[in-house]
Amino acid sequence: MRAARPTSRIAPVRAISSKVCVDVALTDDRSLLHQLVWKMSIATRDALTVARICRVNHAGEFGAIRIYSAQIAVASRLYPDCVPMLSEMLGHEMTHCQLFRDAMPRRNSRPCRVMQFWSWGGWWLGFLTALLGRHGIWACTAAVEETVHRHLDDQLHFLAGRDRGLHDIIASIHEEELAHLHLAERQLGSRRSYLAFLRGLIGMATDVLIWLSTWGDSTRMAKALADAKGEHG
Ligand SMILES: [Fe+2]
Ligand SMILES: [Fe+2]
Repeated sequence: MRAARPTSRIAPVRAISSKVCVDVALTDDRSLLHQLVWKMSIATRDALTVARICRVNHAGEFGAIRIYSAQIAVASRLYPDCVPMLSEMLGHEMTHCQLFRDAMPRRNSRPCRVMQFWSWGGWWLGFLTALLGRHGIWACTAAVEETVHRHLDDQLHFLAGRDRGLHDIIASIHEEELAHLHLAERQLGSRRSYLAFLRGLIGMATDVLIWLSTWGDSTRMAKALADAKGEHG
């Protein structure tokens, strides 16, 4: 009968240990499930942000095409010396626009629903600033390209490790956008501070244009990019 004691002692231990094993297994399963759901939600959120990047960049490049087209129309009559530089930048913007358009289908992205807004907003911005004179043209270019440069920098940071293809497209146009900014700043010369107000106004208008044309997506996108920046330090 005494031999039964160890068995009676061992049984609860086995029971406890098997319960612990089940609990541990359940906990591990739940933890894995949570991790999986979390990763899937991150992937969905990232895919949405990538689609938004494609859409806003395509719309922005289209707006830039319209700005430079209107400036060239005015400059060809009033300041023909500016036309070759503006035409070269227009050629770049047309290539950039096509690159983002081609990148859209794979990323489940479509052109902005209010492209007409970009079209006429950009055209009038280019037309009116060109009427202000050569420095109006370059202040507009500097303001727009400065805003573009800021957005592209954030996007490059976000896309690294998430979408190599789109990252490479943006990296390939980044130098040209920076060259546009530097050219405009050289042309402005010492008048930079004099035109700071105009630059600030146009930069703000560009941000508002991006926000309106994406129905507020740009704010969510900026937050996603800022969060990504925070995650990676
Ligand atoms: Fe561009
Ligand atoms: Fe540009």
